[in-house]
This record gives sequence, C-alpha cells and structure tokens, in this order.
Amino acid sequence: MDYKTVESNIKKIIEESSNILQDVVNYLSNNIDHYSWVGIYVVEGKDLVLGPWNGPDETKHTRIPIGQGVCGSAASSGKTEVVDDVHKDSRYLSCFVSTKSEIVVPIKKDGKIAGEIDIDSDKISAFTNDDKVFLEKICDMLSEHI
Ligand code: SME
Repeated sequence: MDYKTVESNIKKIIEESSNILQDVVNYLSNNIDHYSWVGIYVVEGKDLVLGPWNGPDETKHTRIPIGQGVCGSAASSGKTEVVDDVHKDSRYLSCFVSTKSEIVVPIKKDGKIAGEIDIDSDKISAFTNDDKVFLEKICDMLSEHI
C-alpha cells in the first residue's frame, strides 16, 4: 500500500473512531510491513508514559524520563529521530532482541511536545525520508487527539 492511501485511511479512522490513538497504532502496525512494533508515548510531567501500542511483545520501557533513550531525545529536542542501526547508538534503550532500526516522531500540541510515535523495525535502516515525512504528517493529524 502506498503512503497516500495509508494517509487517507488514517484520516478516515481519525474522523470515525472512538479510540483514535489505539486504532491508528493498530493500523500502522498491521499495514506497513517494516513497522514491526508501533507505540505512542504521552508526556506526563518529566516522563514519557506508554499509551496504545501494537506489536508482537510488550516493552518493559513503559515510563522513560525525557532526555533518556532515543524516545527521550526526540521529546527533548522536538525533532524526529531516525536510527539506522540501534546497536550503534549509545542512547538506545533495548526492548526487543529483533529490533534493528527505530524512528521516533514527536507529536506537538499548542507549541509543546505532547507525545510521540515510536516505531521499531526488524530491518536495518528501515526508515527512509518518506517514512519521516509521512509520520510527521500523521503526528500533525493526531495533535488534537492526544
Ligand atoms: N528504544 C526506545 C525505547 C522504547 S522501545 O523501543 C519500545 C529508546 O531508546 O528510547
């Protein structure tokens, strides 16, 4: 499926769902092959707290201090993080043995970071600029629903 189709399907989910964040996470995880695990973290004080997620396993990192890990870096800088090889990034907090690359995209609301989408892939260098542009658009669409 191409990103334009995925984007319009997600738009529909946002318009119609009564459980938007969970349904969007499920949709991304089930429809994009290289998205192995998809989760949304929500900012709570100085921490990121795991909200809806979809993937083969649960993560032990359900609360991450802002500033720690790849997730915490994206939350403190407000910028998308793309990690081609997680084992070469000293910030990386390990969750799944199968993970090889990761993307974290902040969700902004009223000029502040309200949360983020975190995606792990079992493929090395799985995330291209197309993923970044696509996911930043999805995060904009989720901004008023987090
Ligand atoms: N790898 C993340 C932690 C979250 S798990 O991938 C679900 C990090 O380094 O912040």
